[in-house]
Amino acid sequence: MQAPAGEADEAYSSIEALGPRVPLHAPEFAADPHAAYRAMRSHYGSLVPVELSPGVPATLVINFHTAVAILNDPMRFPADPRPWQATIPPDLAFLPMVEWRPNALRSDGAVHARYRTATSEALADLNLHDVRAAVERIAGPLISEFCNTGSADLISQYILPLVFSMINHVLGCPPEIGQRVAAASAAMFEGVDTATVNTMLNEALLELAQLKRETPGGDVTTRLVQHPAELTDVEMIHQLVTHYSAGVEIPQNLIASTLLLMLTDSRFVANSAGFQPPTGSAIDEVLASDPPLANYCLSYPRQPILVDKVWLPANQPVVISLAACNNDPAMNNGDYARNGWNLAWSAGPHACPMQARAASVLIVQEAIDQLLDALPEMRLAVSPQELVWRPGPFHRALTTLPVVFPPSPPLRYS
Ligand code: HEM
Repeated sequence: MQAPAGEADEAYSSIEALGPRVPLHAPEFAADPHAAYRAMRSHYGSLVPVELSPGVPATLVINFHTAVAILNDPMRFPADPRPWQATIPPDLAFLPMVEWRPNALRSDGAVHARYRTATSEALADLNLHDVRAAVERIAGPLISEFCNTGSADLISQYILPLVFSMINHVLGCPPEIGQRVAAASAAMFEGVDTATVNTMLNEALLELAQLKRETPGGDVTTRLVQHPAELTDVEMIHQLVTHYSAGVEIPQNLIASTLLLMLTDSRFVANSAGFQPPTGSAIDEVLASDPPLANYCLSYPRQPILVDKVWLPANQPVVISLAACNNDPAMNNGDYARNGWNLAWSAGPHACPMQARAASVLIVQEAIDQLLDALPEMRLAVSPQELVWRPGPFHRALTTLPVVFPPSPPLRYS
């Protein structure tokens, strides 16, 4: 990706010169990102000049092979955002998603290895039988609260409370502390100032870490505080923030998008022979075609760098479009059964740890199966075109998922 020696600079372009910046923050982009990716593919090459929010430029990578090369080159594409962060307004709405933290996601080299080892080893001892049983225990009472009404918004009444309870369970977080974490997350969505939200969150998570130091349990937080990496209280707070943000928002969006596919695509309705493709197939398809983290994996070259004959500036975010790369015609042939190639979990040293992937897929699948087993005649309450997607450069996230179904009595185990 370096300029070949002796070749004239004029053979190359700057990212600025490629064309107008595409605003990833616009509601129009959220409404139909795939049309935007197609337009990008026909107007630009593998790299697209974009805006993450008004006045905040970045480069979006939409070519699969270019993305894989960047993701596997952490020396030239480091993940630590601090040089860039020093140049941007401190009140950017999406800052909590990208700001520096002492965690694996925002670190490089030996520091990254220390955090990643602690996280992976803490997650490795997760008992997936226990995870499955916990989803079942949590799903039943939630479904019972709305099943006799004949309608529901699945996101607020089922998916969000379920994934939140699941991450509390995995982290061994008692209900009282869990409620304070939930209140802080809600405050963030309601636009309460970042300092107040951070104080609420930090106090609750510090208490959780201290509780597990004093009273260990068989949970991920205990394994993190006991890990030989000897994480400090501040580091523990940031690992827990990372677990909550990864463990709530992303599975929530994957469950919602998968349910949307299963409720609207005739392939997922039982055929005359009674055969219905398994939920796992729908999850695989969504991960490959419409992943919940659509654009992410930010890196910040420390000096101007040449990629695919385009000069990218120093200390400006390079964002991988997992969604566009997965739909790159060079890769996606519609065979989702063998979709190990897709980038929904990223690739390279910062890829989602295997242990987190296995637990996430299990939670997503079990949450969907519990719901559809209880209410098999569930239908979308509006046309798919009426659904509203949350604006934002990084996620693929429905605001609501309204459904209707024949009312049925509360489940036996509630
Ligand atoms: C459907 C669920 C999930 C998806 C699709 C997903 C996807 C991803 C992606 C794309 C990355 C790379 C991000 C980047 O480089 O900026 C990542 C990293 C990571 N994920 Fe996940 N994730 C999921 C769930 C989880 C859960 C539940 C956890 C933990 C409880 C988790 C822990 C992590 C960690 C610690 C990293 C950073 C790894 C590193 O930097 O070395 N993820 N994930």
